[in-house]
Amino acid sequence: MKYLAVIGRNKVLSLAELESLYGKVHDLGGGCASFESADNVNIDRLGGCMKLARLIEKPLMEWLMGLPEGKITLGVSDYSRGATGRSVKAEAIKLKKILVRHGRSVRVVLGEGAVLSTATVLHNGLGRGSSGRKVELIRLDGKWYAGCGVQDIDAYTRRDQARPARDAKVGMLPPKLAQILVNLCGLLPEGARVLDPFCGTGVVLQEALLMGYQVYGTDIDERMIRYTEKNLEWLMSRNKEAYFVGRVQNPCRHRGFGAISRAAALRNTHEIASSVSVGSATEFVWEQPVDAVACEAYLGPPLKTVPTEIELKEIQQEINSLLSATLKNLSKQLKSGTPVVMAVPAWLRPNGEYEGLNLLDETDNLGYNVKKFVSRGRLLYHREGQVVAREIIVLRKK
Ligand SMILES: C[S@@+](CC[C@H](N)C(=O)[O-])C[C@H]1O[C@@H](n2cnc3c(N)ncnc32)[C@H](O)[C@@H]1O
Repeated sequence: MKYLAVIGRNKVLSLAELESLYGKVHDLGGGCASFESADNVNIDRLGGCMKLARLIEKPLMEWLMGLPEGKITLGVSDYSRGATGRSVKAEAIKLKKILVRHGRSVRVVLGEGAVLSTATVLHNGLGRGSSGRKVELIRLDGKWYAGCGVQDIDAYTRRDQARPARDAKVGMLPPKLAQILVNLCGLLPEGARVLDPFCGTGVVLQEALLMGYQVYGTDIDERMIRYTEKNLEWLMSRNKEAYFVGRVQNPCRHRGFGAISRAAALRNTHEIASSVSVGSATEFVWEQPVDAVACEAYLGPPLKTVPTEIELKEIQQEINSLLSATLKNLSKQLKSGTPVVMAVPAWLRPNGEYEGLNLLDETDNLGYNVKKFVSRGRLLYHREGQVVAREIIVLRKK
């Protein structure tokens, strides 16, 4: 199946996520990318994807006439260069007129500009319409796509903010980024075991669990291990509840943690395993199997102002030695081919660029290959002006 993805603001990272999972990805411009997958793609697993749509391979009218009986709700977005709110409105009205002439009842949902926001798509039940009669049509460069998923912003917020154990000091890894870290490991077999050796409050493990993986977390700080345990326990109990809320009430508005949780909730009842232990990543001996490593490493002290050269050198040195020792320790224990994905710090410099660690120069000696992506650029994640950014490195054990 041919898919169109409307990707997040962080284009390089979103493209790399898709490439890791689906291989060839084409950057179509305008914030869109295309890729192919033989299987159904679930947007709830993609942290960097805002909307997902499938290419309509028939003439558009023929496809629309094939929608199930009853009133059609149609959203229209046009990501082509030069498209405007006016041109989209005109197109939508034209489609409606033809459909009405063919005896169909139609409601059209339009946005402010040429494209519908994810919130509009989500809250109008487009993109995920259970009846199949609610759909967002997406146009790009003369092709039409039918929306088949929209990022559930509310579900991300719920599972981020409702976790019982949070700690602002270890930083708040956004769940979307945690998903991207896991996805950058590539397509893992179902039930694979994902290790986070710097698990903190457990956001990476939480997202990996929701994706159906087994999880294993270690951290040097005993308090963090207690937090992770508490959060994972909460997640597993909430999951089932969310599943039932989603079923009993309006499935469009009360989906709990999103569709992935429904699958995971079912699995949680018996199979999913999680384990956590206190230990330093530089020397811990992890129990096997470890099929992938995904983590946000120690990021150094939180900084509000740009550090001086001397301050930065000191911090870099400390983190470089922690991470090279960690990679060395992991290297002895991982099977060849195991993916290792790490979010590490990069610091804002007076010229507005981010300076990272020199870890990548060493990875070859430490026993890893660096994965290169077609989109090439650095995999940086930060807010505008943020002093400590996260840079993602993607390695594979030789
Ligand atoms: C940026 S935080 C990770 C936060 C985590 N992603 C979360 O969801 O909360 C880094 C973590 O690394 C841990 N840490 C620092 N040095 C460590 C070491 N040598 N071995 C293992 N963990 C370490 C800290 O205790 C902290 O929890």
